Amino acid sequence: MPAKSKTIQTDEKDQSSQVEEQLPMEDEVPELTIEDLPGVGPATAEKLREAGFEELLSLAVMSPADLSEEAELGEAVAAKIIAAAKKMANIGGFVSGDALLERRKEVQKLSSKVQSIDDLLGGGFETQALVEVYGEFGSGKTQIGHQLAVNCTLPIDQGGLDGDVFYIDTEDTFRPERISQMARGHGLDPDYVLSRIHVARAYNSAHQMLLTDEIKRMSKGLKVKMIIVDSLTSHFRAEFIGRGMLARRQQKLNSHLKDLKQLADVNNALVLVTNQVHAKPDALWGDPTKPIGGHILAHASTFRLYLRKAKGGRRIARLVDSPNLPDGECVYEVTQDGLRD
Ligand code: GTP
Ligand code: MG
Repeated sequence: MPAKSKTIQTDEKDQSSQVEEQLPMEDEVPELTIEDLPGVGPATAEKLREAGFEELLSLAVMSPADLSEEAELGEAVAAKIIAAAKKMANIGGFVSGDALLERRKEVQKLSSKVQSIDDLLGGGFETQALVEVYGEFGSGKTQIGHQLAVNCTLPIDQGGLDGDVFYIDTEDTFRPERISQMARGHGLDPDYVLSRIHVARAYNSAHQMLLTDEIKRMSKGLKVKMIIVDSLTSHFRAEFIGRGMLARRQQKLNSHLKDLKQLADVNNALVLVTNQVHAKPDALWGDPTKPIGGHILAHASTFRLYLRKAKGGRRIARLVDSPNLPDGECVYEVTQDGLRD
């Protein structure tokens, strides 16, 4: 499927004859580049690449208005490119179950290096997924973000994704020193690990949303395997206050989440977002807290992990709403070296 499109073929003639042979097959998409799109010459291809569009899939999921703006193309041209990309990336509509299964086969799992957490998640954090980690202040959301960022740089045979991490920090809580500690905890070179984690501080919600475009642009030559937004909701909560603003806030959040999910799909990467809970004092039973963002976020995330503090510095993670795993809980610890069983 589309992730294969990264492979660059050298012989263009061969490629186009392959296209004719393979197009009718639903589950086998030929390896095409953006130059193969009808009407895209070297100049347009250059513009697209400069705007961060390296693959057909990344174009196929755009809207004409957005593409026109980002790549500085006319809107009609943008619309044509998108339509062609949709056709060629074979995501224009429904796909067969076996084609989906083929795409699912590309899913990789990132280990937390904590057995109980990996078990809870059926082996680790899946790529092509959006994970929401939510909990009260101090429950360990940022610690999970730091730990997974470190683990993502590990080789695949050690549970990592051998990938680069983009970390959008909205609360100024990213700490390179903590990354170094956790890297040493795994016997890794802290400088190497830090060189693969790309951090941007988001100053407000609009800036935060723009940073997803920046990831697209910067991903050239990198192997983007994880995107962390810590916290997803803090700016939105601070800026859109009161009932009258709720619809607008949700609309913005929804669009932000869509962009993030696209990054996950296009790069076969994992997106991890954190979210605080706010007190719901009128709750009569159950946990009197619920994540900010409400339903939009609940539906956008593939997995949700609810973190709580327990006695003796331990933490409890609860898996909520997974599409294919039973809900459950596990216990772990935050130590100097990182998360441990
Ligand atoms: P908010 O962002 O405020 O909502 O909280 P959070 O859920 O992101 O909490 P965070 O991940 O920042 O957790 C902070 C907690 O992690 C601290 O209270 C400590 O218990 C623990 N922690 C952080 N750093 C260390 C460390 O170096 N060693 C140990 N043992 N624990 C640490
Ligand atoms: Mg935090």
